[in-house]
Amino acid sequence: MGRIFRVRKRKKKNTLDHPRVNSTKEYLELIDWMKKSGWKPSCKLVSAHFQNTGRGLMAKKKIVAGSAIARIPYRLLITVKTVLESAIRWIFDVKRFFSTQQVLSTFLIWEAHLEHLSTWKNYIDCLPTTFSCPAFCDDVSWLPTFLLEKAEDVRGNISKTYSVIRESIQSKKCAHCSREMSSIFTFQKYVWAWCIVSTRAVYLCPKFNAQNYIMLSDENNLALAPYIDLFNHSYTADVKTCVIESEGVYQIETAVAFDKNSQVFINYGPLSNDRLFMDYGFIIPTNVQDSVVISYDVVLRAANDYTPLNRHINEYRCKFLREKGLFTNVSCYAGGLSWDCQALIYVFSCAASCKIDDIKQNIFSDRFKKDSWETICDIGKSIIDAKLVEFEKELRALNERGTAVEMFGDCFVVASNLLREYIDLLNRCYICLNRKND
Ligand SMILES: C[S@@+](CC[C@H](N)C(=O)[O-])C[C@H]1O[C@@H](n2cnc3c(N)ncnc32)[C@H](O)[C@@H]1O
Ligand SMILES: [Zn+2]
Repeated sequence: MGRIFRVRKRKKKNTLDHPRVNSTKEYLELIDWMKKSGWKPSCKLVSAHFQNTGRGLMAKKKIVAGSAIARIPYRLLITVKTVLESAIRWIFDVKRFFSTQQVLSTFLIWEAHLEHLSTWKNYIDCLPTTFSCPAFCDDVSWLPTFLLEKAEDVRGNISKTYSVIRESIQSKKCAHCSREMSSIFTFQKYVWAWCIVSTRAVYLCPKFNAQNYIMLSDENNLALAPYIDLFNHSYTADVKTCVIESEGVYQIETAVAFDKNSQVFINYGPLSNDRLFMDYGFIIPTNVQDSVVISYDVVLRAANDYTPLNRHINEYRCKFLREKGLFTNVSCYAGGLSWDCQALIYVFSCAASCKIDDIKQNIFSDRFKKDSWETICDIGKSIIDAKLVEFEKELRALNERGTAVEMFGDCFVVASNLLREYIDLLNRCYICLNRKND
């Protein structure tokens, strides 16, 4: 093997699968501050950069299943209680409802502005300044239609909750630096803080999050947890979180082992890629939680094209099923059509003369008869075909936006990848349906 080949091979290995330990000054100072605040590492982890997931935590030694991978003292968690014990408690002393995320976001802006005077300086210094989730994107109009509504809802909620904070601070000045409060709590800073809470807060059972004197519009179950928020997500991770009251700590225990020098993951929950994109700004390839929602109207159209004689009765059946709220999970996934989708297609493809009791019996029997099943697969394939046309059109529209990557950054890249994932899912679903009616 020649030298150049060896050097190339080494370089490739380093960039492809070897994490790069990156104990930055900020990270080391965070660890130092946490130790001074009574935190003890429960296993040997180090901050590292991983090619596919970015910054995360790496095991310096093998971790066996059942080990605690992090234990954080309560006093290092930022909760509503922390905010209500701080100098900005007065912002929430009004007869209005606030959401937990709104309270924590406001606190982060305040603490960030205190700079070296903030108790949380070392934590704040380790936080990201940009995000790839739609919430951080000023313009989301370019998003594919099926994501646009959700993204606009999130952006709308950020604006609405921000204006409540602005109303509450009025034209007050900061006692600490004499600046106008409105120049500290800017919308831009609020969006940053909101994204920090969305992408990093952990679930804390409300009973450990007691607070007084504030009207919360939701459950008080969020906490920012320094260090714990450096763990990335994997669906193969299996963790148990708990609060050990006698020791005053929040603990994460892993049920799976991790090799030395591998990334240590936690599991953010059984989340589909559209949720991961919306809340965290990333997706995972071939996510088993993924499905593509299919509307009643799309199923109805495909069924009417297949059996035009049913058109009239199907309009009636559709109205009835919709009103009764039946078959609500009409979707497809990589392995085929959801049960609701199969049942809905079946109802639409039954001849007008079919009795309702026979239809019901067939739906709830173990499996459909061969000819009904073939019809379901044929109509299913035409639905998938139509969805593929729609999603490929959306992807072409994204690709045609030449300068979009510079304008919308990673959010654009992740949205394009998400569309590709869905196109892949639809293709795999089509193959399954083809095989099933062979
Ligand atoms: C709680 S933080 C985890 C630590 C974060 N990587 C950091 O450097 O601070 C969550 C964020 O990490 C990133 N992330 C987590 N899991 C990931 C994964 N499996 N793939 C890609 N990015 C991931 C996303 O940007 C997400 O919003
Ligand atoms: Zn100030």
